[in-house]
Amino acid sequence: MREIQNLKADIENGNLEKLNGRANKSKAERTFIPEEYLKAGIGIDDITKIITFIKENKIDVFTSLLLLVLNLLQKENIVSNISIKNLFDSQNIYFQNKQIKKEIKSWLSKIEEGKIKENFSFLLDCNIPKQQDILGFIYQSLLLEGKKSQNGSYYTPEIIVNEIIKDYVKKDSKVLDPCCGTGQFLLSFADIIDNPKNIYGVDVDEIAVKIARLNILIKYKNQNFVPNIVCKNTLFEIGNYDLFSLNDENIRDFDVVATNPPWGVHFSKEDTEKLKNFYPAITSTESFSYFIKKSIDLLRNGGVISFILPESILNVKTHKDIREIILKNTQIKKIVYLDRVFKNVFTPVIRLDLKKTQKKDKNIQICKEKEKYNIEQARWLNNQDFIFDIHVSGFDAEIIDKIYQIKHITLENKADWALGIVTGNNKQFIVNEPKEGYEPIYKGKDVEKFILSEPLGYIQFTPEKFQQVAPIEKYRAKEKLIYRFISKYLVFAYDDQQKLTLNSANIVIPKIADYSIKVIAALFNSSLYQFIFQKKFSSIKVLRSHIEQMPLPLWDKKTFSKIIRLVDETLKDENNFLQLDNYIMDKFALSLKEKKYINEFNQ
Ligand SMILES: C[S@@+](CC[C@H](N)C(=O)[O-])C[C@H]1O[C@@H](n2cnc3c(N)ncnc32)[C@H](O)[C@@H]1O
Repeated sequence: MREIQNLKADIENGNLEKLNGRANKSKAERTFIPEEYLKAGIGIDDITKIITFIKENKIDVFTSLLLLVLNLLQKENIVSNISIKNLFDSQNIYFQNKQIKKEIKSWLSKIEEGKIKENFSFLLDCNIPKQQDILGFIYQSLLLEGKKSQNGSYYTPEIIVNEIIKDYVKKDSKVLDPCCGTGQFLLSFADIIDNPKNIYGVDVDEIAVKIARLNILIKYKNQNFVPNIVCKNTLFEIGNYDLFSLNDENIRDFDVVATNPPWGVHFSKEDTEKLKNFYPAITSTESFSYFIKKSIDLLRNGGVISFILPESILNVKTHKDIREIILKNTQIKKIVYLDRVFKNVFTPVIRLDLKKTQKKDKNIQICKEKEKYNIEQARWLNNQDFIFDIHVSGFDAEIIDKIYQIKHITLENKADWALGIVTGNNKQFIVNEPKEGYEPIYKGKDVEKFILSEPLGYIQFTPEKFQQVAPIEKYRAKEKLIYRFISKYLVFAYDDQQKLTLNSANIVIPKIADYSIKVIAALFNSSLYQFIFQKKFSSIKVLRSHIEQMPLPLWDKKTFSKIIRLVDETLKDENNFLQLDNYIMDKFALSLKEKKYINEFNQ
């Protein structure tokens, strides 16, 4: 909030004339405390003290965490007599558990003795709040935002993890988190599983793996075992049967694979090539898709996957690759709509539960905050791009099926697309009053159904001076549609006067012979298409891929002429829209009940 307020003040005071670059989180140099990870009722003060101490004394993360681990081990009575002086003299330190001793020795061996100063003893003695994976929480708070974003390292709050575990894990399950971080999922598995050797974890982050191993050793502190948690790259190094082969006593596939995989990781060129070879069916290069595919492979038949994912997996076109793999190899058991879960991550989040099976004829349970309902999986196999339209249930599906059953085409590969202008400095280029050589320019909010309202201002069309501009002929097309980009609704203006727009108003120029652009405007602005759009995509942005999926029915010439006449009348007087809107519903042969349902939805 503070950052946004500062930014707002800078813009208002004129300190910031334009936004210089796109927000690039992968370069962010700041840290923040991910409060969502903290259990309710636990104060943040102790954590803030620890973080401040580490930062003020410039202690590296590796050393800081070791000292905090030792602090925790003392509090758990696993180790005694620790001080900065005797730290490297393990003879003097008593460990209750042999494996923990080994882990600490190996951690210490990587730290230079002189680097640990006397005053660091604060970290050995300070108060650490009692909470599952508190070390992971501190580690998250120390990680730079840039590094977190690059590796997709946002750890999952305990409450979400526990819900998953409760649904699927049994005492003797063999379970895996293929990108376990500091072990939030592993610790919850441990609440149920008797034998710690049945709990497996992998992560590429060395420190996270060290913490995860200790976390699990502390959890089963009375057992002596080597944790099955390793530092490896799951996507390249983990095979199906030889996974952890050295320690694995019961080689068999997993019963449950549960995690929050990394999203949107930027892979190096070399890794991208490798991934293409390993996973030819994943064309999007999306990291969570590789993890889903890999996990399906690691699962036994009948086993279950539960993943925390961005909502975009459900309906963004790029992810059709993984949706097809899911539909063909698993039964989707449940989709839970979790909304916003992670501080600093703005996308809504879902939980996706899949069962590996060849029988895929059951219903999918959709769980939202206030309602639960079922959807037939078979319907999604027939959706364009295998869209998981979770908001379409029962009667909605009947109506939408009816529309799509009518012979139709779409705008896919049949239109030119353009973005509005990015001037780079609106204050400099846009004036309020009309002026010689200037023409009106419109932003998203000026776009209304069929028409453009008052322009935002006036601009001299000097493409060479703008930051971003589409080819001139797109703005100057004989006829075009202008639509709001940031919008929950479809709002399309018809333009035959070659008007200019800013980039909050995008442009589509349909190129279909014998299909009037006015008919397309009529369809897209209709109540029926608002209903289809919102049910299918439930988005706050109108994306090209959404528009490309809207059906354009192949009606006869007479119908088209009538629609064009009604559009012309609406352009003259907006009150005529109702007649046009009704006519479209009638042409799709919607029943009275269906029309009423749609009208009520739109209210
Ligand atoms: C979103 S975090 C989730 C951590 C943990 N599963 C949780 O939910 O709390 C994703 C984790 O994936 C790890 N990771 C990224 N790429 C990986 C890879 N190729 N192999 C194994 N782990 C990876 C990151 O280091 C990070 O710890």
